[in-house]
Amino acid sequence: MNQDKILVIDFGGQYNQLIARRVRQCHVYSEVVPYTIDIEKLKDPTVKGFIFTGGPNSCYLENSPLISKEIYALGKPIFGICYGAQMIAHQLGGKVIHADISEYGKTDVDIIADSLLLDRFSKHTEVFMSHTDRISEVPEGFVVTSKTDNCPIASYESKERNIYATQFHPEVRHTIEGQKSIENFVLNICKCEPTWKSESFIDEQIELVRKQVGDKKVLLGLSGGVDSAVVAALLSKAIGKNLYCVFVDHGLLRKNEAEEVEAVFGPKGKYDLNFIRADAKDLFYKKLEGVVEPEQKRKIIGATFLEVFEEETNKLSDVEFLAQGTIYPDRIESGLGISAKIKSHHNVGGLPKNMKFKGLVEPLQNLFKDEVREVGTLLGLPDFIVHRQPFPGPGLGIRIIGDVTAEKVKIVQEADWIYREEIAKAGLDKEISQYFAALSNMRSVGVMGDSRTYDYAIVLRAVQTDDFMTAKPVMIPADVMTTIVDRIVNEVKGVNRVMYDFTSKPPSTIELE
Ligand code: XMP
Repeated sequence: MNQDKILVIDFGGQYNQLIARRVRQCHVYSEVVPYTIDIEKLKDPTVKGFIFTGGPNSCYLENSPLISKEIYALGKPIFGICYGAQMIAHQLGGKVIHADISEYGKTDVDIIADSLLLDRFSKHTEVFMSHTDRISEVPEGFVVTSKTDNCPIASYESKERNIYATQFHPEVRHTIEGQKSIENFVLNICKCEPTWKSESFIDEQIELVRKQVGDKKVLLGLSGGVDSAVVAALLSKAIGKNLYCVFVDHGLLRKNEAEEVEAVFGPKGKYDLNFIRADAKDLFYKKLEGVVEPEQKRKIIGATFLEVFEEETNKLSDVEFLAQGTIYPDRIESGLGISAKIKSHHNVGGLPKNMKFKGLVEPLQNLFKDEVREVGTLLGLPDFIVHRQPFPGPGLGIRIIGDVTAEKVKIVQEADWIYREEIAKAGLDKEISQYFAALSNMRSVGVMGDSRTYDYAIVLRAVQTDDFMTAKPVMIPADVMTTIVDRIVNEVKGVNRVMYDFTSKPPSTIELE
């Protein structure tokens, strides 16, 4: 690849991929590499600059990760962030000490000198800090460019040496003007040509996948969600009919969803691939019969899913690779080794056990969700897939409290369809992170015409969230809500009451089970 690029040099920080993504937002290619990288590779003329990441260590202690000092002699611009900033000071003759008061979170900062890195910053702004060490002396020839109450050296730089550093994290959203410093570094200081686009990503991945799998067959579990759909579209471009997509219809999908997925990826769709749909509704309903305990339901759905998936894939021969729609946030989540198990997510770590693959194909593993969506649009996927709200692997199985039956699934599907239709009509669909209908297992007395009814209560939920770890309920305007409720009780047989779940997460979760 002959495009300009910025290497993000990894010292173990939490936000490393986010830094690379912020660079890509400037239309310049960026990738994360280990700090042990061979110095020769850094001499490549397409590499225009380096960003040193944060990290959990103290740079003055023995065995802390340190970059080879040769990098400073290359003359290419360097931007050190947090640990990166401290390490530069430490290696070039400044001083780093343990801070008496460590800073964490949003912090006020004052810009106190002219700065190429902080060009266009307001004199007083807010940044995100997360550190227990601080720089107490900058190396000779460097200028301190900003400070906070507890951190007299919040950033420093030397135009002559082409080295820039911030104690704060410009890549994190809480640093209000952070993206400006990334732009200043990438475009003004490194003088990169902003030519990188998502199209370039597609071309690169096609080339990489072809190199990885050659003429071998690749299997992909297609769920209808954005990530696996984008992988399918991408691999279809790369390897065409050597791609086998297995789509398991567990009968717990939303109304028409299985048909919509088939219309896009099936033989009548525009993608060159093999689409295998396994209709397994009856098997799932049978296995779920009479099961009410949420974890047990999830486990049954997960195990049955694998059973069906394996049955289908056993019919294929010579499949050597497994493709997955892993994206970057999935990798962070798995890596964190989440402390308490709240719910078992069946699609995390649930790989076919009996199948032996030569390798995994994960072309989206370094992308964030919005980048995945952009790539999906470029690959011609319809909007309803690209902008689909999250839908859990166990589907409506965890939106029906208590035992699952075909009748209950139908009720939720119809109610959910109406809910989604009205929310979209009111133009609220882009504003709400996730909204759906669920079935409380409660039946109550109502009156319809002159008759008594004893029917189910539907629960509606709508939440706003950035990370799905916490969420706030959304207030839906009364007129929209009235239309939704009227339509559900009038059009969905078996429902005589609709309730709105206005609880935050925590203490609730987003799903009901
Ligand atoms: P909760 O209910 O835990 O949901 O607040 C947080 C987000 O995760 C989705 N979710 C799942 N996604 N498999 C998935 O793929 C699952 O088993 C699962 N359970 C919950 C949920 O829809 C929400 O977006």
